[in-house]
This record gives sequence, C-alpha cells and structure tokens, in this order.
Amino acid sequence: MRLLITAGPTREHIDPVRFISNRSTGKMGFALAERAAARGHTVTLIAGPVALATPAAVRRLDVVSAAEMLDAVRAELPAADALIMCAAVADWRPRSIHPVKLKKREMSATLELEPNPDILLTVKPAKEGRLFVGFAAETGDPLAEARRKLESKGLDLMVANDVSQPGAGFATDTNRVTLLAPGAPAERLPLMSKRDVADRILDRLQTLAETEKKRD
Ligand code: C5P
Repeated sequence: MRLLITAGPTREHIDPVRFISNRSTGKMGFALAERAAARGHTVTLIAGPVALATPAAVRRLDVVSAAEMLDAVRAELPAADALIMCAAVADWRPRSIHPVKLKKREMSATLELEPNPDILLTVKPAKEGRLFVGFAAETGDPLAEARRKLESKGLDLMVANDVSQPGAGFATDTNRVTLLAPGAPAERLPLMSKRDVADRILDRLQTLAETEKKRD
C-alpha cells in the first residue's frame, strides 16, 4: 500500500520566536512509518517539528503549522491508499502572526485565537476508496469520545489512548491503546512498545484493505 502518515505536533506561531503547541514528540507516527516501510509499504511521512531521525526508506516532508500540514496532506492524498493521521494538530492558532519579535511591552495579556481547520474533515470529500485512520488522545475514559470522533470524522479505524495512564501517550516509548472500527467490538491492547502498537495498527489496516478489495 501507499501510506500517508502524519506525525508530531504542529506549531502555531505568535511571532518568529513564540508559538503555541502541545507535548507530542512524534514517536508513535515515526514508529508507524518505520514499521510500514519495513513491511514493504511505500511511506510518505508528514512531520511537524520533532527531534527524530527519518526511518529508512521513508519519504519525509517537514511542516510547521496545521495550515502547512493540511496543504501537504491535500497534495499527497491523491497518491495514497490510506491516510494515518497520527499528528497532534493544534486546535487553535493566533489570529495573526507578527512578522517580527514582539517586545514584551507591545504584548497584551490576551491572545486572539481562531480554530485551525480539521484536516480529516477537510479532506473527507476526497476520501473515495481510501482508508482513514485517526488517533484520539484523551484523559479519563477515552472510548466514548473516540467512538464519537470515529463516526464524526468518517474513519475506518480509530486508535484511542488515555494519555493520563503511566506508559501511555506523549514522549514515552510505550503505549496502551484501544482500536475501534465501525461495527466491530473494541480491541483493547495491553501496554506495549510503540513499535508493537504500530504493527498491530498495520495488521488491522491490512485486514481492512483486504475486506475492501473483496467488496469491489
Ligand atoms: O484533536 P482530535 O482529538 O479531534 O484528533 C482526532 C483525530 O483528528 C486525530 O487523528 C488528529 O490527527 C485529527 N485531527 C485533524 N485536524 C485537526 C485536529 C485533529 O485531522 N485540526
């Protein structure tokens, strides 16, 4: 398969030196890219600002903001069989970016924000026969919210994780996730390395692709 994978956070600049972002390190998305390439898939990895080396045989495109990530996803989607949106896209961005560093005295205590576009929802009309995989990082019981996002974003597979659990979520080498698909029981996976989680996600993706092919 030709896989398009996004990873890492996005950075929403206030001025050239200040930004809004989140704790994503890109480890899960890079593990997916590495395992997918090792299995012989053709991988394009769209990465936000992260400190990780590009996995072997992976084509990497670096972006900074959600708007840039959306442009890259739009441009690359036609050549992909599946999109895995592993990136932690910032929900909000400053309404304007100052071209030069703001002096402290020029800044006000409030920052005007506007919502970023939802990348999955924006490219949904171009989905056609492609498989879409999403991630839901939640605190507390992630399943209800993840199931809601699976449906609203029209996904084939949702990877839900409780980022408040020890060993799960941001900046760890392990993850504990539950896989949700429409009309299927939840598959709760134990705590395992992100590399093994990546393999389980790719197994499910392959099964989904085979089911889709049989339907054609
Ligand atoms: O942030 P949220 O919990 O809604 O993320 C769920 C899924 O939607 C993730 O796969 C994420 O990459 C994707 N997403 C997106 N565009 C956004 C925010 C999230 O595609 N602006």
